[in-house]
Amino acid sequence: MGDDFVAVRILDNFYQTSSFFPMPVVLVSTLAESGQTNLGPYSLCFPHMITGGRGHAMMLIARGTSNTAQNIVRTKVCALNFIPHKKKYMKNCVMLGYPGETTEEKMKNSIFTLIPSTRAGSQNTQQYPQLVKEAFQIFECTWDDSYPLKPREDLIEYHFLLRIDKILMKKKWRDCLFKGKGFPRMPIDFGYRDNVRFWFAKHSRPYAIPIPKEKGNAVETVKYACTRFDPDITWEDAACEKIVKVPRIFLNQVIAGVVAEAKKAGITVITPEFMDTVRNKRSGEKK
Ligand SMILES: Cc1cc2nc3c(=O)[nH]c(=O)nc-3n(C[C@H](O)[C@H](O)[C@H](O)COP(=O)(O)O)c2cc1C
Repeated sequence: MGDDFVAVRILDNFYQTSSFFPMPVVLVSTLAESGQTNLGPYSLCFPHMITGGRGHAMMLIARGTSNTAQNIVRTKVCALNFIPHKKKYMKNCVMLGYPGETTEEKMKNSIFTLIPSTRAGSQNTQQYPQLVKEAFQIFECTWDDSYPLKPREDLIEYHFLLRIDKILMKKKWRDCLFKGKGFPRMPIDFGYRDNVRFWFAKHSRPYAIPIPKEKGNAVETVKYACTRFDPDITWEDAACEKIVKVPRIFLNQVIAGVVAEAKKAGITVITPEFMDTVRNKRSGEKK
């Protein structure tokens, strides 16, 4: 019966040969020995260390003999350029993903626009790979070679723990991120299914499913909303706790009010004491 489970043989590259697996498309820029920026398309690139305040990191799995892997081992730096979905971009990615070409050879065929790194000010841009102007966001990263997944002679694939030094985003999308509304059109890579074709799709309009009211910790929800509201303002946990009782639909409005007061006062860390000051000021104004 078509609905029964049957076993699938686990082959090398199982994520594309033995299963269906949706992935992102990232153009990794690295520095070739000549100083030229190399672009390689990669899909095995996922968040790997996500909490703890410092050392947020991505995991990139790359063939050890690729230009990208060799360049990261030599220079330690790279940038993950997330490009939007356009068929011509995907076509060019497949071209840039053809193994065995030197940076000089392959980059002649690149349709992407390269701009300087933002990492070292204007002086040291030669030390960092250039960035892809067409990207909607870019992670500038440094390989943490102290992490146990070091390149091994016996492995074809290298696992790079890439510490995120900087996240850059086109302003339009940063605004969408903070408002919690709107998404760039991102490509989905379904890998190759038959050795001759890669498969891609653009996603359709995302839809929202609210978290049920009875689930989830209210404090966590508030902390989440506070932390993501303005990247320049940090909230102490005890400050977030002061507004747990605010109904969800008014939460962003209240956070916006507190952030505006903090900016007026030149404050970057919101403490419970500051929340009390704002509340007293507001109730004073009402009277
Ligand atoms: C869409 C796409 C995704 C790819 N993802 C990966 C990947 O995650 N890991 C990998 O080792 N190779 C991947 N490849 C193959 C590499 O792009 C290929 O090895 C290429 O030679 C890398 O370029 P480079 O040698 O300049 O680094 C992918 C290819 C395409 C077209």
